[in-house]
Amino acid sequence: MSKFSLQFKDVSFSYETSNKSILTGLNFDVKEGEFVSIIGPSGSGKSTIFKLITGLEETSEGNILINGQAYTNRLGKVGYMPQQDLLMPWRTVLENAALPLEIKGMKKQLAYGKVLELLDQFGLKGVEHSYPSQISGGMKQRISFLRTVLSGSNVLLLDEPFSSLDAITRLSMQEWLLSQWEKWQLSILFITHDVDEALFLSDRIFIFTEQPVTKFVEVNVPVSRPRKIRDIHAPAVIAVKEQLIEQLRVKVNL
Ligand SMILES: Nc1ncnc2c1ncn2[C@@H]1O[C@H](COP(=O)(O)OP(=O)(O)OP(=O)(O)O)[C@@H](O)[C@H]1O
Ligand SMILES: [Mg+2]
Repeated sequence: MSKFSLQFKDVSFSYETSNKSILTGLNFDVKEGEFVSIIGPSGSGKSTIFKLITGLEETSEGNILINGQAYTNRLGKVGYMPQQDLLMPWRTVLENAALPLEIKGMKKQLAYGKVLELLDQFGLKGVEHSYPSQISGGMKQRISFLRTVLSGSNVLLLDEPFSSLDAITRLSMQEWLLSQWEKWQLSILFITHDVDEALFLSDRIFIFTEQPVTKFVEVNVPVSRPRKIRDIHAPAVIAVKEQLIEQLRVKVNL
């Protein structure tokens, strides 16, 4: 029987400053080791879901469980990579990457040692003393991701992490992400606007089309792992892609 890394149980939410309901009675789960993407129109509530999971916002009703547990304070229980990389321009790559460990109270030298051990695997060897302005967009994303992994959680939330990258860099980052996901045995919830990206990466895709989000359409991606990018051109996947685009188009026509 598979275990759950993340569960939403009848979650409702509206921002305090507005009476518009964003989620009502929402239920979903992410299983251990699963890669799930959320796709949906702008303003449909995707990032809000991440703010709820991280504890930046509190549910109006319902429960959120992380690894089967309902915490009263969820801050720090999951790794969260926001769309903006949030690297501090005055800190070097090394200092930026070590931040979550320092926040946890680890001594600076120990934290730096841990980061240095990992830099190579993240394709960042040799740039540890560079500043964010001196490195490429793909490298910045990898530092953010390294920092997210160093949070120590098996549950990662990635909010459109590759949207600012060019197509080629993006593709290599997607392949790289899948290799990291396997290696660290992570459970990932991933927000994207890109149908092909969702198909290549995910086990399941949630399509948000209603507001407030109550129910959503869910599709399974019929491709085994490990995957190659050409796999998403298989007829079975194209059928899923058409279904996905159809769902999203319905919303735009309203
Ligand atoms: N702090 C806030 N206070 C009040 N309303 C908010 C706040 N943050 C977001 N909203 C509203 O909540 C709704 C959902 O926003 P959210 O950021 O979750 O959308 P999203 O699906 O992530 O969109 P996008 O694809 O553009 O990133 C939007 O109508 C937005 O205007
Ligand atoms: Mg968003």
